[in-house]
Amino acid sequence: MPPAALVTGGNRGIGLGISRRLVADGFAVSILATREEPADVLRELRDLAGDDSLVRYVRGSVADLDTHSRYVDDAVAAWGRLDLLVNNAGVGPRVRADLLEAAPEEFDRVLGINLRGPYFLTQTFANRVIALRGDAPPQDALVATIVNVSSISATTVSTNRGEYCVSKAGVGMATQLWAVRLAPEGIVVYEVRPGIVATDMTAGVSAKYDAYFAAGNVPIARWGRPADVAGAVSILASGATPYSTGEVFHVDGGLHVPVL
Ligand SMILES: NC(=O)c1ccc[n+]([C@@H]2O[C@H](COP(=O)([O-])OP(=O)(O)OC[C@H]3O[C@@H](n4cnc5c(N)ncnc54)[C@H](OP(=O)(O)O)[C@@H]3O)[C@@H](O)[C@H]2O)c1
Repeated sequence: MPPAALVTGGNRGIGLGISRRLVADGFAVSILATREEPADVLRELRDLAGDDSLVRYVRGSVADLDTHSRYVDDAVAAWGRLDLLVNNAGVGPRVRADLLEAAPEEFDRVLGINLRGPYFLTQTFANRVIALRGDAPPQDALVATIVNVSSISATTVSTNRGEYCVSKAGVGMATQLWAVRLAPEGIVVYEVRPGIVATDMTAGVSAKYDAYFAAGNVPIARWGRPADVAGAVSILASGATPYSTGEVFHVDGGLHVPVL
């Protein structure tokens, strides 16, 4: 049985890029997302895998804690193992509102999907990995990997989407918390921080970011692509960095580097 990966939001955008890459890398992949099962996407991934049984789709919301055990159980029942969790699913606020006007309901929705959901999915995943693993692992065993997709917004302020920034800053702390707690369990935890990536999430503000690139604000002056983020996930999921945890990997064309 190949290694088994869970990719939340693996049906579109960055997540689909990650699903494609992981399947190509030889992972079995199970996607969690809220939309109806996308037959065309699943066909493409199953063809890439060369085996229909290696790609699964679970419909549900990461914000709904009851969904977590259903999602994890489904993969364990199908494949009998868990090797990788990619907490990718995320949303921005439906309306970009100034901090002085933003609604608490939107804050709760964004935090529920971007932070509370992945935080507790990580808990469910880790407990299941530990149960599958059995006895405590030898000190140098790498049992599983968790990758959290956060954002440049973890450290960069946008005053018209404060809830999004707070959620991603929270993912940064959650990465460190889980990295420390899960290290003795043989589970490493990383954070991948994309910059500005061309997906449905940024389609509505593409003119703003086109101008931002043209003005020379990003050292690598182009839009990021889902495959760029997937490349980082692929490296971290490969087991090539077993003595690193709690690490942040930027995929932002150098946007995070302070420039004078
Ligand atoms: N695009 C960027 O510039 C950028 C930059 C930095 C970080 N990011 C982060 O990268 C991640 C992916 O973003 P993206 O740009 O690919 O966005 P996207 O194109 O809007 O895709 C969002 C994904 O999340 C899924 N999703 C949304 N709500 C969900 C829920 N409640 N439960 C389960 N799945 C849910 C969506 O599937 P369904 O619609 O089927 O639910 C979809 O697969 C997010 O965490 C985002 O914050 C994006």
